[in-house]
Amino acid sequence: QHQYDLSRHNSFAFPAICPAFYQPHSLSELDAILEELTSPFYILGAGSNTLFTEAKTTTILQPAFKGISVNEDGDSVLVSAQCGENWHALVSFCVDNQYYGIENLALIPGSVGAAPVQNIGAYGTELADVIEYVLWYEFESKSIKKLNRSACQFAYRDSIFKNQLAGKGLIVEVTIRLAKQWQANLTYRGLDELPGDVTAKDVFDKVIAIRRAKLPDPEILPNAGSFFKNPVVEKHTFEALKKRYPNIPAYPQENNKVKLAAGWLIEQSGLKGFRYGEVGVAETQALVLVNYASKHGQDIIHLAQYVQKQVLAKFEIFLQAEVRLLSSKGLIELTQPRQ
Ligand code: EPU
Repeated sequence: QHQYDLSRHNSFAFPAICPAFYQPHSLSELDAILEELTSPFYILGAGSNTLFTEAKTTTILQPAFKGISVNEDGDSVLVSAQCGENWHALVSFCVDNQYYGIENLALIPGSVGAAPVQNIGAYGTELADVIEYVLWYEFESKSIKKLNRSACQFAYRDSIFKNQLAGKGLIVEVTIRLAKQWQANLTYRGLDELPGDVTAKDVFDKVIAIRRAKLPDPEILPNAGSFFKNPVVEKHTFEALKKRYPNIPAYPQENNKVKLAAGWLIEQSGLKGFRYGEVGVAETQALVLVNYASKHGQDIIHLAQYVQKQVLAKFEIFLQAEVRLLSSKGLIELTQPRQ
């Protein structure tokens, strides 16, 4: 619980120091920690979606509750996993046991408890598609609340845990409903080339292969996956862009909106593989910022702001960070400069 080096607790591998680091394994340990905690703290999962922007961070609380249980429920199963479980290990467990629905979410780094916060999603599936409920511990009342899917207010890379409930509690357990009857979701580009009789394991393996080909392995080249969110714009904004850039990738959304590919916007701005000192834009996926050898989270912030500026100048679109940015005072945002 002393000053603690977080190098191994963030996939950008920045050597930030926190004043205290707590790792509760149970509710009673959590209660005891909260009793003695007076300073502001940040709840960290596996550190694969957080950038430490300064040499110091706030106090860190990293829940390490473990356990997975399964309950049959008619045609489906309810799989409950504790917050400290590894997400990919949960996906492997489900594929091995023939519980279907999250194979497209293979190899996403991070913990189970962090998954609902940003509503992890990839290759045509989102966590929100399978969530039954989330058990959330409220600090003020020291009690557990059960939030069903609609209460979680899931949206693209967003949930109530990032908004109204931010800082007010901690996700303890996540329960997902999975099918016992196999049905593939092969809509996403890259998966559509699989044969008609694919198994869940085939899809799982294919997703892993695609991710390995495109996304740099944080163990080798430190990064936090997509650094920016894909921007969602009004249809008329998209139509205007489409006239100038007929090949612009686009994903139609509800309410007359269109999701664009931030990686494409960054690549078209000439920044794929761009180096800024010891950090850079990944060579294989322009949406990922990588740390070659820097010891300073600020370098990533400077690079991110440069990317934002270039994309704004070319496309009049401001990219928002998807990664959470933790300073010594708490979470910060990169906001659009006034014009
Ligand atoms: N593209 C480029 N250049 C690039 C990167 C992408 O032109 O450098 C184009 C691709 O050719 C494609 C489109 O952009 O037409 C989308 O690319 P991709 O399928 O690689 O997905 P993405 O939109 O860049 C999102 C998620 C990823 C997730 C993939 C697959 C976000 C912020 N990112 O990336 O999630 O794995 O889709 O579903 O939504 C993460 O959040 O950390 C993450 C990796």
